[in-house]
Amino acid sequence: MVRRSIVAGCGSYLPERIVTNDELAKKIDTSHDWIVQRTGIHSRHIAADGQKTSDLALAASQDALQDAGIGAEDIDMIVLATATPDETFPSTATTVQAALGMTRGAAFDVQAVCSGFVYATNVADNFIRLGQADNVLVIGAETFSRILDWNDRTTCVLFGDGAGAVVLQGQDGDGSSTDRGILSNCLHSDGQHHDLLYVDGGPSSTQSVGFLRMEGPEVFKHAVRNLASVCSEALDAAGLAADDINWLVPHQANQRIISTTARKLKMSEDKIVMTVDHHANTSAASIPLALTEAVRDGRVTAGDVVVLEAMGGGFTWGASVIRW
Ligand code: ACO
Repeated sequence: MVRRSIVAGCGSYLPERIVTNDELAKKIDTSHDWIVQRTGIHSRHIAADGQKTSDLALAASQDALQDAGIGAEDIDMIVLATATPDETFPSTATTVQAALGMTRGAAFDVQAVCSGFVYATNVADNFIRLGQADNVLVIGAETFSRILDWNDRTTCVLFGDGAGAVVLQGQDGDGSSTDRGILSNCLHSDGQHHDLLYVDGGPSSTQSVGFLRMEGPEVFKHAVRNLASVCSEALDAAGLAADDINWLVPHQANQRIISTTARKLKMSEDKIVMTVDHHANTSAASIPLALTEAVRDGRVTAGDVVVLEAMGGGFTWGASVIRW
């Protein structure tokens, strides 16, 4: 018998306000056609004034708990991935914990930027498999609009705000790749590439929040190199092959990166869950947002092999293989 973490429920939340490419083109020197051609993005959601990352995370969590059919009192742990916390401390996870009315268990944030949800999923899976938790709420939540330089057209058109969450639950399997639940996780980082994607501020360096800075074409090259290889590594670890994938649910940074990764895995495009067109890049929130959409519209069904993959600042990257 092997203990597995199954996805018992998922949920999401997007702020009401939708900003189109044409609206951005009224303020900065860009165009709908440039953005669509280079990224596949048509629009993004932007949080309202005063709406914080924890507000988005709370709404996604309530949706996920309802989907799982359990209450906040059943949750043993919250692992929240974000690069845009409400405050430097305490963690946004503890803010969500309080808002859910939970006074037991443990809650903490994970910081791996756009790979945050894959990192948080791996952390939660380890706690469950070790028997230290039965029900873990894993959240990806971001308000990247707050760290964008809205005069920098090379970055501000790429991102949006949102949150997604899953409830992971311990369940016994027989240890084979037909088990339901997380079958493998692979994580990597390489801190040498700091200058290619970072935020130029922080409590210990500038005592300010700072703005996102990125060498887009360089990030692009690393992404296409790393993502296909980490997917293959995770599939190997699960005893599966690319042919076995029913759904690839990638971090939604750029349609071209996603398509290139799928091509390298020799996967057809119709097995990719793509939301970058209407969500843009929501960093750690993008995978659970896409996953929830694909589960709700009936694409992802019981028994499917779902592969999550992401790359982000650090650089960090990783993949998880899940039998739904
Ligand atoms: N509108 C119009 N023109 C623009 C814009 C814009 N918004 N932004 C840049 N340009 C111009 C540039 O100034 C440049 O003009 P020039 O040729 O006169 O110098 C031209 O367009 C081409 O610029 P490139 O940067 O070479 O364009 P590229 O085709 O590489 O596309 C992009 C840029 C979309 C950023 C791409 O490199 C990319 O997607 N990179 C990966 C980004 C990414 O995935 N980031 C997320 C990582 S995850 C995380 O942790 C946040």
